[in-house]
Amino acid sequence: MKQPPIFLTPQQMEEEKQAMKAVAAHPARPATYHIVTYGCQMNAHDSEKLAGMLSGMGMAEAGDRRDADLVIFNTCCVRDNAERRALGNVTWLKELKKDKPNLIIGVCGCMVQQPEMAEKILKQYRFIDLAFGTHNLHQLPSLLYTLLEQNRRLVSVSDQENLIVEDLPVKRLCKHHAYITIMYGCDNFCSYCIVPYVRGRERSRRMDDILREADQLVSSGVQEIMLLGQNVNSYGNGCETFPELLRRLDQMGVPRIRFMTSHPKDLSDELIEVMAGSRHICNHLHLPVQSGNNEILEQMNRRYTREEYLRKVEKLRSAIPGIGLTTDLIVSFPGETEAQFEDTCSLVREVGYDSAFTFIYSPRIGTRAAQMDGRIAPEESTRRITRLIQEVEASTARAHQTLLGATEQVLVEGLSKRDNGMVSGKGTRNITVTFEGTAEDIGKVIPVHITSLAVNTLRGERTER
Ligand code: SAH
Ligand code: SF4
Ligand code: F3S
Repeated sequence: MKQPPIFLTPQQMEEEKQAMKAVAAHPARPATYHIVTYGCQMNAHDSEKLAGMLSGMGMAEAGDRRDADLVIFNTCCVRDNAERRALGNVTWLKELKKDKPNLIIGVCGCMVQQPEMAEKILKQYRFIDLAFGTHNLHQLPSLLYTLLEQNRRLVSVSDQENLIVEDLPVKRLCKHHAYITIMYGCDNFCSYCIVPYVRGRERSRRMDDILREADQLVSSGVQEIMLLGQNVNSYGNGCETFPELLRRLDQMGVPRIRFMTSHPKDLSDELIEVMAGSRHICNHLHLPVQSGNNEILEQMNRRYTREEYLRKVEKLRSAIPGIGLTTDLIVSFPGETEAQFEDTCSLVREVGYDSAFTFIYSPRIGTRAAQMDGRIAPEESTRRITRLIQEVEASTARAHQTLLGATEQVLVEGLSKRDNGMVSGKGTRNITVTFEGTAEDIGKVIPVHITSLAVNTLRGERTER
């Protein structure tokens, strides 16, 4: 049975607001902060909330961590390398702290939410002052206040897995593109995945709260909204469903709408219908398949077959001509045979993805797959992922070829790093397009005629001046 979410009470929120004021007025308050973010868009958006609270406490953002009085690492633990990267960087700050004894170092996010991890981090890394979990993000003001007042190191990791916090201040990274989290947590328990353990139970925000946030963003000039959740397709509380939410947002006139991530098992005909009939939903879908083999999919607890996945792809393609599909793929799941791996390669060819994220399976403590036999040797995994990347690259090249001569509506993100006098941004299919332009184009949607292909990107010319 699904438990209803628990909303942070106005009184608890008021306490945090008071703490914010108290930190802002504190004589020992850090003047500047810097946040280092790892992991997915959820974490990126959490960092925007951290930044919102820190600005609310009177701190200014430092572009470089060396110039900051407070550095926070917002960590990820989805794979072993993500975890190692986060801790490697934290260690580097130990040196900095020798010259700057008042520097405050905090770690938060998914890695910290793992059982006993926060205590372990504080024990092992004596120079870290603050460790808090994913369910404690909103407590940053009161934690900082206690730290400043009592000058002691703090851990706060709650097991309240059903909490929803509304109305936290947000300092957005970008003026024209914005994230909105619509649901938190995950109940799918794919056998390889740590996310359900560190992000808590699946819970959805109220539709009215989401629509209000979207409305404010559109009034502030945002061009594109990305709805976030580990499995947005299962958003909802009874009559509030994901297709209904999309319909409402589409009617509101949000210029461009994207969402991620979609779980194939919950991709309904109704959702495809809403996407097909919408004016503002982008013609792109990220639909992680993980493997092309039915036995592996079953072992992964994905709850769909290769054939069911392909049927959904077919439906999407016939309802929304020109839709671009992207995916996530894992090689070397425990016991994966050569033939099973080949099924993933053939699926990539069959679907014809625009692009894909490819991962080598990484055992995560506490997950079911970590107990399974049949670990694949590292050299073999490297061979498999190299081969799979070749398949994906070939698929990307084929997909991009079909866009030659087409017109893409490009939301310009910035000046091209490599080419002078060029700007780049994403078309509705989420593929990067580069064309001639200036800083004035940033944040605008410009129609661009695609004239040539580069590696993983498209090049073009604007159709109007
Ligand atoms: N909720 C999203 C994905 C979140 S994690 C979804 O289900 O689509 C992002 C990707 O990381 C996953 O799609 C998967 O491909 C990969 N991943 C997750 N756990 C992993 C592990 N233990 N080893 C390797 N890759 C993993
Ligand atoms: Fe992990 Fe599966 Fe949930 Fe995605 S749906 S976050 S892969 S458990
Ligand atoms: Fe990583 Fe947590 Fe996202 S584990 S992928 S930051 S939900």
